[in-house]
Amino acid sequence: MSAYPTPDDSPENPLSARPDDKSRRSFMKQAGGILGLALTPPLVSQAERLKAYSKTVEGVSEITLRVNGQARTLRAEPRVTLLDALREYLDLTGTKKGCDHGQCGACTVHIDGKRINSCLTLAVMTQGKEITTIEGLAKGEALHPMQTAFIKHDGFQCGYCTPGQIMSGVACVKEGHATTDAQAREWMSGNLCRCGAYPNITAAVREVAKSA
Ligand code: FES
Ligand code: FES
Repeated sequence: MSAYPTPDDSPENPLSARPDDKSRRSFMKQAGGILGLALTPPLVSQAERLKAYSKTVEGVSEITLRVNGQARTLRAEPRVTLLDALREYLDLTGTKKGCDHGQCGACTVHIDGKRINSCLTLAVMTQGKEITTIEGLAKGEALHPMQTAFIKHDGFQCGYCTPGQIMSGVACVKEGHATTDAQAREWMSGNLCRCGAYPNITAAVREVAKSA
């Protein structure tokens, strides 16, 4: 007799290995169905799901934002940040979420021309203001000079921080805070780059500053 317990081979055990076991087969059928559902690609976008969800939640109100020259309306709770409004409700995913705590600068956008961390800003507070994201920087096919300079100076590796760096760089030059390498580094210090592309980023920002 084996020293180890044998598996319960009764028909009631769903893991029973008996080939003619109906319980096991129906269990596998059910599990397969659930797995199939889980693997089915979503038929609706995140923005559409949020729109449907927001209809069921109290305190949701209509918010109209002016983004890249266009009025965009969404329904969201007052606690929704501008970063989430852009990415999750308006499908503008160029603005990145890094820390979500105001520490990395990946979420930098412009409000009335000034750079801000969109993860620390409530969407409702930005109504009536002009919001510019990385998607609104180029004019059609013509890149913004800062975008061109980043490409020229290879100012990125993985690219995750790049939209925030570029938005910050544009504002930094406009503020007059990129007149020397040291000054540019200091005033761009709120934008972290985990790939360490800092010398190239500084070179790009300085080039645009010199020609401004
Ligand atoms: Fe906003 Fe990091 S995501 S500062
Ligand atoms: Fe990778 Fe900056 S290029 S984090």
